[in-house]
Amino acid sequence: MRQIVYRSITTAESGRAADDIPDIVRQAAARNGIEGITGLLYTEDDTFLQVIEGPSDSVSDLIARLENDARHRDLTILVDRSIAEREFGDWTMIYRDRRESIDAFDDRLRVLLAGVSDETVRHFRALQPA
Ligand SMILES: Cc1cc2nc3c(=O)[nH]c(=O)nc-3n(C[C@H](O)[C@H](O)[C@H](O)COP(=O)(O)O)c2cc1C
Repeated sequence: MRQIVYRSITTAESGRAADDIPDIVRQAAARNGIEGITGLLYTEDDTFLQVIEGPSDSVSDLIARLENDARHRDLTILVDRSIAEREFGDWTMIYRDRRESIDAFDDRLRVLLAGVSDETVRHFRALQPA
């Protein structure tokens, strides 16, 4: 299984990456289920941070689609490694939806990050306001 963590910048006029989440997740969740892909899509201001885990071929195909997606730019791969087991659980794509408070999402994120490699945790911490 392969794990990718990348960051990118929204091209939305509002400058807020979170504005794109509903459309992306509607598209992503069903397809990820079919492809065996799971992970987490996180936003902070204009930045996306996404963790993708799944079979190597599925992950490569998704990265190719992401690199051609005009909704974001400057996609930078931060982590690319092989993993024995999923670190982020079985969610087809976990994210914070509009109805969930930031505190509630942060609590969920803290629980998730407890089981994750130090390198990946550092990429999340780098994005979060002090
Ligand atoms: C930040 C971001 C995250 C995305 N995450 C996923 C994802 O997890 N799975 C997925 O299938 N598509 C995801 N997409 C959408 C893909 O880039 C692509 O539009 C979609 O897979 C459909 O591709 P196609 O039109 O070439 O079939 C994401 C797009 C963006 C901008």
